[in-house]
Amino acid sequence: MGAAAVRGLAVVALLLACVAHAARPYRGGAVATAYPQASAAALEMLEKGGNATDAAVAAAFVAGVVGPYHSGIGGGGFALVHDGGSGETKVLDFREVAPKAATRDMYVKDGKVVPGLSTDGPLAVAVPGAVAGYLQLLKEHGKLPPSVVLAPAISAARKGIWVTPRYHTMANGRLECLRRDEEASRIFLVKSAEGTLELPPVGHVLKQPDLARTLEGLAKGGARAFYSGRVAKAIAGTVRAGGGVLTVEDLASYKTRPRQPLEGSYRGHRILTMPPPSAGGVAVLQVLGTLEKLRPQGFTFKDPEALHLYVEAVRRAYVDRAKYLGDPDFSDVPTARLVSSGHLADLAGSIDPKKATLSTSLLPQAAGVQGSTLTDKPAVLTPEPERKNTTHISVIDKDGNAVALTTTVNYGFGSCVVAKGTGVLLNDEMDDFAAQPGVPNAYGLVTGEPNAIQPGKVPQSSMSPTLVFSREDPKRVMLAVGSPGGSTIPTTVIQVISHVVDSGMDVARAVNEGRVHHQYLPDELWVDRWGLEPATLTALEARGHKIRRVEQWGDAEAVFVDPKTGLRYSASDPRNEGMALGQD
Ligand code: DON
Repeated sequence: MGAAAVRGLAVVALLLACVAHAARPYRGGAVATAYPQASAAALEMLEKGGNATDAAVAAAFVAGVVGPYHSGIGGGGFALVHDGGSGETKVLDFREVAPKAATRDMYVKDGKVVPGLSTDGPLAVAVPGAVAGYLQLLKEHGKLPPSVVLAPAISAARKGIWVTPRYHTMANGRLECLRRDEEASRIFLVKSAEGTLELPPVGHVLKQPDLARTLEGLAKGGARAFYSGRVAKAIAGTVRAGGGVLTVEDLASYKTRPRQPLEGSYRGHRILTMPPPSAGGVAVLQVLGTLEKLRPQGFTFKDPEALHLYVEAVRRAYVDRAKYLGDPDFSDVPTARLVSSGHLADLAGSIDPKKATLSTSLLPQAAGVQGSTLTDKPAVLTPEPERKNTTHISVIDKDGNAVALTTTVNYGFGSCVVAKGTGVLLNDEMDDFAAQPGVPNAYGLVTGEPNAIQPGKVPQSSMSPTLVFSREDPKRVMLAVGSPGGSTIPTTVIQVISHVVDSGMDVARAVNEGRVHHQYLPDELWVDRWGLEPATLTALEARGHKIRRVEQWGDAEAVFVDPKTGLRYSASDPRNEGMALGQD
């Protein structure tokens, strides 16, 4: 090679090095959330001397006020909290549980699932866990008092939020559902001159004084102010008056569940993610592990051959999900085996590198999944506006403490039920159970026996808050990431991780990149608007993949620490209205 060619290569290498981590650098803490107000609240906590947990909890409370369609104190979620000092990572599961009076067949009539019963209205409501979770995180890992951490949310509820294009889309998707609840209509819709309930126009300001009062109660009285007394009575009263089954006893006995992080690795990076009842973390580790086995040299989403392997790895991970995943306190979930090197080798070995496996051919392995649910019809699960809910918060502070927190009310605006006089919009998390094992839910996900409804049980989730550690120091967080998107959450998280680790993308680019998704059933490869070039699609079709173009999904929120410089970079998905911030 001549000197000029070597110089040319050196220039290319330098340019590539500059591209990596080219997002805005911060010397202090950094945060990414789906709302400017939530990111600002998180930053305010960091500026006040709070740590990553104070910031994440403040952001979570604000998120519930400004994005009631995604999350809120009537919902629940998962968090990973890493202590930069001790190097330890804790996991808190504060997801909703089924009420005591819930029954296996509560959504089934004459042998069929009644549409809407598990998504809209009082019967869809599971026992909320968000308040217990957020406040426990604060107590165990935060430095600031609840009054300080809750202040931005209280202020946002009192001053009002303006109706953004996203709000408008989400409320439009749930208009009929919201109209059916008097209290929700009063808060989230407007009355026309003719007296009909309509969508508030973009720019309209919505105040939530009842919610402000409830949040003030939490700042003073802690979680007890939610799980007992006035608020608990209002929640149970509203739900039961509408035909639901949630009681004050369900609320009084709600408990969060500390769990062990699920551990794996990818190309020398240690990864900690959410264990069951999330099915997301298992899928993240399975797919990354399978890809590493199939492509030890590295991976790129630009190459059709590699993409084919990715789709096949995802397909198999979702078969395992349908077969095994559920609440580990209720059934035996073979988590360790599912992410073991031997099992990943089996998955990798079962992939034909040239041809797509028909999902139907994997069916007999999936116990409890009924053949009649297989269909060649277009999926029912195109992510429609009302399904694009849930929100993720990523924070890494100046001391290397990190939080990845995903929280949700499930469907857009949850069940559309607001507990009278409290401003608390209640979740419809019951839909994440298998209303009938083997029959797809609102995300088209087919889950099996382990996810059947039982009192006190946590419904299976896709939420995958994840921490990736630096290769140099396996106790130092390099990337905090997560996303909404129902069944697409794990594949969104996998792609951000691979883009950063394999392709050396800066975190903003990794979050922006077009996405591809498969979930075993329906047997379709989803490609988003920015996803793949026509030639790549043709090459995938030639391997037998049925392509489906879907406008967009997900909302990845990520913070990256450059292991070499220690500088932080944060990125909020441009698909939504969020903002990434940090301390100079
Ligand atoms: O826990 C779950 O998997 C769902 N309740 C999350 C819902 C969701 O992300 C929908 N977003 N588009």
